[in-house]
Amino acid sequence: MKNGEVCLRSYLVSDDERTVAWLNDPEMKNTFGLTYQIDVSMHRKWLDAQCDFLIKAIEVNGQHIGNAILRLTPRHKSALLEIYIGEASLRGRGMGFRALGLLLKVAFKELKLHRVKLFTRIDNIAAQKMYEKAGFVLEGCERQAIYQDGVFVDQNIWGLLFDEWVVSEDV
Ligand SMILES: CC(C)(COP(=O)(O)OP(=O)(O)OC[C@H]1O[C@@H](n2cnc3c(N)ncnc32)[C@H](O)[C@@H]1OP(=O)(O)O)[C@@H](O)C(=O)NCCC(=O)NCCS
Repeated sequence: MKNGEVCLRSYLVSDDERTVAWLNDPEMKNTFGLTYQIDVSMHRKWLDAQCDFLIKAIEVNGQHIGNAILRLTPRHKSALLEIYIGEASLRGRGMGFRALGLLLKVAFKELKLHRVKLFTRIDNIAAQKMYEKAGFVLEGCERQAIYQDGVFVDQNIWGLLFDEWVVSEDV
């Protein structure tokens, strides 16, 4: 696929099957600390049960390639951000960074949030570099926060305040 214009669109029920396949991929399960396989009905039930939750499909040239999520805490004007390019072959081509920029625009301009935070496993180099490039500040490390396959792994916490947000030229 040629690099096309990245956009965020409403997430549709018809995106569930693709999303579940991505989330069941062993690398993605590791990234998000998922310990079991999910199926479409579990995923749909889980999505329908969420509140203060915004999920957008990341699309390039009409192809759904990943998802971008904000879990809102309205009383604190903040959100927890998650993003993934589900199609592994399309990673490393600038699309994650562009989608992140669009999601931050939703967070800070549309929703008028004050703070966006996120977590990364300390071994997720690509994600940490991307968040650093977008201006996120490393705020600390939760030691041995993730228990997976018999091993405890540290996770970093990152934050970006509205005042620190720099709008990328790509967005
Ligand atoms: C993390 C993720 C969203 C990044 O999206 P991407 O499209 O692959 O990344 P981009 O091509 O937009 O790169 C943006 C920046 O990230 C960093 N980066 C991306 N891939 C990298 C890699 N393999 N190694 C080191 N840095 C990397 C670079 O700083 C890059 O900027 P540069 O190209 O100017 O150097 C994507 O790799 C992904 O979905 N990974 C699996 C799920 C995941 O880890 N999600 C984040 C959970 S915290």
